[in-house]
Amino acid sequence: MKQSEGLFYKMKKYKERVHLLLSLIKNYYVDCKLFYKHSNIFKQDTFGKIEALIILRYHSLEKGFLHDSIRYEFGKNVVIELAKLLKREDVIANCNRSQITAAYMVMCNYYTAHSEKNVDISSYYPKSDFDFFSNMLALNFLSVNDQQATSYFDNSDKDFYHFSKSRCSMRDFTGEMVSFETIEKVIEIAKTAPSVCNRQPVKVYFVEDKKIIDSVFAIQKGLKGYSDNVSQLFVVVSNRNYFYKVGERSQLFIDGGIFVMNLLYALHYYKIGACPAHWGFNTDTDQQIKKLLNMKEAEKVICLVPIGIPQNKFKTTLSLRRSNDEILKRIT
Ligand SMILES: Cc1cc2nc3c(=O)[nH]c(=O)nc-3n(C[C@H](O)[C@H](O)[C@H](O)COP(=O)(O)O)c2cc1C
Repeated sequence: MKQSEGLFYKMKKYKERVHLLLSLIKNYYVDCKLFYKHSNIFKQDTFGKIEALIILRYHSLEKGFLHDSIRYEFGKNVVIELAKLLKREDVIANCNRSQITAAYMVMCNYYTAHSEKNVDISSYYPKSDFDFFSNMLALNFLSVNDQQATSYFDNSDKDFYHFSKSRCSMRDFTGEMVSFETIEKVIEIAKTAPSVCNRQPVKVYFVEDKKIIDSVFAIQKGLKGYSDNVSQLFVVVSNRNYFYKVGERSQLFIDGGIFVMNLLYALHYYKIGACPAHWGFNTDTDQQIKKLLNMKEAEKVICLVPIGIPQNKFKTTLSLRRSNDEILKRIT
């Protein structure tokens, strides 16, 4: 190769790299703009965003009912905020949507749970609100499911319809350890998850060091009241090394998410209780877990999955799903 040709080749490569870098910056900028405009962080200016605020609040109340002995008057501020949202005209007009119905149900359940025990909550939740919310409903106040360890896994080896309908997030573990032999079988199934071009960017850290587990949940805070009995924890990560194009910048989350679902099913199949737990944090917090688990810089935490043997009796949230017409749009 002549010297001028070598120089030309280097220039061409350099130009390509600059072009890719500009494309990466532009794509993150557009992502950033869209997230700014359409996420719930800065403005609550669409019905979807209001519905999301409602889901967030009713789900936190729903979780308050899971404890064996309810801490009465829990989530006062959440109740006040949710009541305000549920009385909005646009929300009332959409009261048939599954998630709005679920919110009314949880609010009614909250009221009856307190009035049955003669706990006065009128200072923040008046009876008139209860009457209003119950009028919006066809009187079904259930917002938690009572489960028993003996029957919870009854459908875990049945056909997929019954299997998948029987899985739910459970948080009440005994603290007993699941054998590593079983964990290996779980991973054998979990890794059948598809990934882009079969690149398999996912790795799982399986943590059995209780000190580290406690430190992780002290940061994560999403399993308050349940983490004491967590003795084993999966931390699912995706490795950025496996992505080649700017357009793939979110692919690590997709492959990671698919893997997590497969992992949850594999755990259910082997009769192991689990609850996915978010890792929706800023980069500073990412550094903390990376240090705790000695992770590579290229790895991004996708999700935590605490696992364990279910306690004899436990409660799970109703987590009512949307109706098909809310999520299925047919294009013919
Ligand atoms: C990515 C992700 C993060 C979650 N984070 C938490 C969490 O931090 N704490 C918790 O108690 N539940 C958490 N959950 C469980 C959800 O509340 C639960 O999946 C949802 O209500 C649906 O209920 P189901 O899993 O019982 O079907 C999480 C679920 C997912 C998928």
